[in-house]
Formats: sequence, C-alpha cells, structure tokens
Amino acid sequence: MQLWKNNLASFPRRRPSASGDAGSEGRNGLDARGEMVKVRVRVGKSRIAGQGLFTVQDIQKDTRILPYVGERISKKESVKRLTQGNVYIFTFSDQYDIDGKVLGNSARYINHSCDPNCEVEITRRSIWIVAIRDILTGEELRYNYGYGMETYGDFPCNCKAKNCVRYILAEEYWGLIKKKSQRF
Ligand SMILES: C[S@@+](CC[C@H](N)C(=O)[O-])C[C@H]1O[C@@H](n2cnc3c(N)ncnc32)[C@H](O)[C@@H]1O
Ligand SMILES: [Zn+2]
Repeated sequence: MQLWKNNLASFPRRRPSASGDAGSEGRNGLDARGEMVKVRVRVGKSRIAGQGLFTVQDIQKDTRILPYVGERISKKESVKRLTQGNVYIFTFSDQYDIDGKVLGNSARYINHSCDPNCEVEITRRSIWIVAIRDILTGEELRYNYGYGMETYGDFPCNCKAKNCVRYILAEEYWGLIKKKSQRF
C-alpha cells in the first residue's frame, strides 16, 4: 500500500472514525449520497494473508466504508519505521505518511488484491476506503495497493484472483510485466 505504496508506490487517487480493532461494531462511513451510515466490519483470518477485514453487511457501491487512520509522520520517520518492518505505513502526501499501526485502525487489515472490491480515496485531510462495486456480507475487503514497478519483484501477490498478476502492482503496470514475461 503504498501502504505499501507505503512501501514506496503510489495509490490510485479517487475521488469520522473507528474504535477497537476486533468485533463488528459499526463504523462511521458515508453512503453514495454523502449521508452518514454505520458500516459493520470484522477482522478475521484471510485466505490472502494473515488477518483480513470482512463485511458483516451488504455495502453499496460508492460507499465510503471507513477511514484509514493513524499517526501522521514525516518521510524520514516513515523510512525508519519501514526499515523496522512496519507494514502499515501509508503514503499520504509529498510531506507526510500515515502510520496506521494504531488501535482502532481496522482499515490496516485490508489486504491487496488484483481483483479489488474497494479503492482508496485520498482527500486533503483523510484516507477513505471506498466500495467500487456492491459488496456482499462476508466478503473480504481488498484493494490494489498501487505499488510501482521499482520493487514489484519483492512483493509477490497471493490474492488468489483468477486475474492475479502474481505481484502486488498498480494496474497501470500490468501490461509491462506481461511484456517482460513474454520475452523469456
Ligand atoms: C496492511 S497489511 C494487511 C493486513 C495483514 N494481512 C495483517 O495480518 O496484518 C499488509 C501486509 O499484508 C500482507 N499482504 C497483503 N496483501 C497481500 C497479498 N495480496 N499477497 C501477499 N501478501 C499480502 C503483506 O505481508 C503486507 O505486508
Ligand atoms: Zn494478485
């Protein structure tokens, strides 16, 4: 994400707050018309990697499901924490990153997929996880972390989607790696 973008990539940019990591209590989200809605999610074991975040209700396309919250840190501090193995750092702006390794940031459990049902929307103040299609109860939330080409080989993808490109990589680069693999 660039959470990983964090780990050096950049998110697809598209167009109030969580409490407690576990359980399925409502989160403050926004529906497609901008009305406040409670969105229930739960943390659970993922087929993709470690823990994942799952829906406990149907969610409509374009709903802002929950924010990615955390500590605002400088780029220098970000590099330090990445080096220490923190996988929850999210690239926010040219100046700051967000360290999502804080209690209450359930969004940090969302895994990457080559077949996402969400995307990230970065506003001036916040990072939102937004549904890009209707999502059914029980589905794992997932978005494309949007990593760049520089280091994609270091991030193999285990999303298990039919269209998986085997690496955690922004969709805009998929054509390039397909061309590369045809050369060998
Ligand atoms: C922000 S965390 C996601 C939540 C994580 N699964 C957990 O249990 O805390 C990012 C980490 O999850 C793993 N991950 C997420 N999506 C993945 C994928 N598609 N394939 C392989 N590993 C993935 C990687 O280890 C990555 O460093
Ligand atoms: Zn994949």
